[in-house]
Amino acid sequence: MLLKYNTARLQLPKRKDDGYIPLRLVYRGCENAVKIGYRIGHRTPWMQPHYFNPSAYSVEKGKVILVVASKGIGKTNLMRNVIQAYYRTTRNPIIAFQEKKDDLNFNRTPSLRQISEAGIERIRLAPPEGCSSPQRRLIPLGEVKDRDEVRLKIPLAELDFSTISEYFGKRMSSTVAGLVLERVWQSRENHLTIDDLIDAVENELWRFQEDPYFNTMVLHVRRFIELLRMDQLLEVNRARSVHSYIHPEQINIVDLSDLGDIDVKRFVVAQMLKMIERAYKRQECFIGITESHIYAPETGDFEAKREIIRLVTVLARSYGWTVFLETQSPDALERVVLENADEIYILGYVQRSKLTKLIRTASVNFEGFLDIFYKVVDNIPKGMGVYGSAADPTNPYVVRIQLSPVG
Ligand SMILES: Nc1ncnc2c1ncn2[C@@H]1O[C@H](COP(=O)(O)OP(=O)(O)OP(=O)(O)O)[C@@H](O)[C@H]1O
Ligand SMILES: [Mg+2]
Repeated sequence: MLLKYNTARLQLPKRKDDGYIPLRLVYRGCENAVKIGYRIGHRTPWMQPHYFNPSAYSVEKGKVILVVASKGIGKTNLMRNVIQAYYRTTRNPIIAFQEKKDDLNFNRTPSLRQISEAGIERIRLAPPEGCSSPQRRLIPLGEVKDRDEVRLKIPLAELDFSTISEYFGKRMSSTVAGLVLERVWQSRENHLTIDDLIDAVENELWRFQEDPYFNTMVLHVRRFIELLRMDQLLEVNRARSVHSYIHPEQINIVDLSDLGDIDVKRFVVAQMLKMIERAYKRQECFIGITESHIYAPETGDFEAKREIIRLVTVLARSYGWTVFLETQSPDALERVVLENADEIYILGYVQRSKLTKLIRTASVNFEGFLDIFYKVVDNIPKGMGVYGSAADPTNPYVVRIQLSPVG
């Protein structure tokens, strides 16, 4: 039994011809399945290619991929593999949230030496028609330097009043002024830009002129409008929509690395997810989130967490979105997310205590399999681990993810 997990089998095959490796230009949506590594299962003790194949999933099934690994083991490498594979096999929008600067860059390929050593194909993603790059980087705060970078500002028109009042602090919404604002906010035309908002609020406010607290209300509203105006993250002067930022055919990378404040990060993630849902509800979509335990932790209740729960329970299930979540701390992750993971990768060695909750909750049965894996395989190389799918919950595999050819 133990011999079946012999690691020697999982060494990637080496290329013999180390001279000429052709470069292939890969167009969007032109392939059926893309190989992202190798795997062996206990029913098939030989090594077979491990494919990423979104067309194998029907829309109703949806797909939540959860990756658990410690630092530097290859979570982001797997995300790069999956994103480039998704790009190659579909024509759906791709949005990825990046935590570390320069983690994702789909104009980058490994060096020739790495390519020939790891035996991966040498490719370049072809940019969509009319674009000069397969990706675009959305930067919330900070400088825009490159041609494929866009300054991201959340449009006023796309905000919900509940989100904005959570962002500015709950107090605003509990005053009478808050009620007036909330009422005004209900119609989208009223908050396309800050000037529209001021007009609409003035129209509403004059009805309260007789109210003894009228002056306080005006002060409150004024302060709220000042806050909106001062906020660097919000686009209040021009009427913008999702389509001003997200390109449906490029890989959209939302760069959170310049944001220090965790609440601001959560606000951006929550708001982007809402905007994307509104725009692409009827279409399949790819969402990649790193450090997902920050956005959907076990404790606390806030917009980003609600959005991620919605993502894995409703959008992935009902609309066939592919959701890729990466985490170092599965023990800190919300239960609902763990339960709804359709595919789970556990790469490298992860402490048992961190995995207990995942193993208990997941719809894949890793019990036993993981123990054997850790007993048999010592010195686990990067990108190697176990993989299980809810479609075949009792049959996990040992996988070795390849170095991503691009990203
Ligand atoms: N399957 C693999 N084969 C070969 N090298 C790999 C593989 N996976 C990762 N590496 C190497 O390990 C490095 C770190 O990988 P990666 O950035 O994916 O780790 P990570 O788990 O995302 O780390 P962090 O927790 O710091 O974000 C990469 O730069 C890459 O060179
Ligand atoms: Mg990473």
